[in-house]
Amino acid sequence: MKIGIIGAGNIGGTLARHFARAGHELAVSNSRGPETLRDLVAEIGEPARATTPAEAVEFGEVVVVSIPLGRYRELPAEGAEGKVVIDTNNYYPNRDGHFEELDSDATTSSELLQAHMKGARVVKAFNAIYWEHLRDQSRLSGDPKRIGIPISGDDAQAKRTVAKLIDEIGFDAVDMGTLAEGGRRHQPGTPVYTSDLQASKLRKFAGV
Ligand SMILES: NC(=O)c1ccc[n+]([C@@H]2O[C@H](COP(=O)([O-])OP(=O)(O)OC[C@H]3O[C@@H](n4cnc5c(N)ncnc54)[C@H](OP(=O)(O)O)[C@@H]3O)[C@@H](O)[C@H]2O)c1
Repeated sequence: MKIGIIGAGNIGGTLARHFARAGHELAVSNSRGPETLRDLVAEIGEPARATTPAEAVEFGEVVVVSIPLGRYRELPAEGAEGKVVIDTNNYYPNRDGHFEELDSDATTSSELLQAHMKGARVVKAFNAIYWEHLRDQSRLSGDPKRIGIPISGDDAQAKRTVAKLIDEIGFDAVDMGTLAEGGRRHQPGTPVYTSDLQASKLRKFAGV
């Protein structure tokens, strides 16, 4: 599968390495430009090329967005129609600045991204696991210690696509509902956030 990555830091870079190992083709981007990603794409090798964010959106059947939420309005608003967009972002006001609509719980950060990237099929995933655990704690399917990854979204097919990718890289997806429901169930401050629980325990904890 062709996967575009916007944001090549702790989470985006870790996912790029995992997805390359799983046999996917990658277009990786950041805000400073492709030349600043030379070391990362050299390390990953042939499956990866460095691009701009707009090119990553154009390239990917699936597009990962993994940037500080406060900068989401800089993302390409066009070009993602019909594509699966994986949103790893979290809202941290100290880093991102205050968003009144999030402080008042009128909406969720993933719904803001969904509204910005027109026609995308946004799935919130990988936001609730610390990046070093995402990097190091892959396990084979059926291993009783395999960690569950909460996901949420409004498009069932898009969630199935993301769940398959999660399985391929060594984790179990746990569906926590729509973006509005799930966004609240696995955001910072919830019991499941960075809990590293197995799928059955995650479901129990989140009441899904
Ligand atoms: N760290 C964790 O353990 C963790 C876990 C789960 C979720 N998250 C969430 O996932 C997101 C990414 O976290 P991270 O720790 O991976 O951050 P990070 O290491 O700081 O990396 C952020 C990346 O986003 C890029 N970026 C920033 N603004 C951009 C823009 N407008 N367009 C394109 N790329 C842009 C940066 O590129 P430049 O350097 O070129 O600006 C950098 O590659 C955050 O929302 C975070 O809260 C983090």
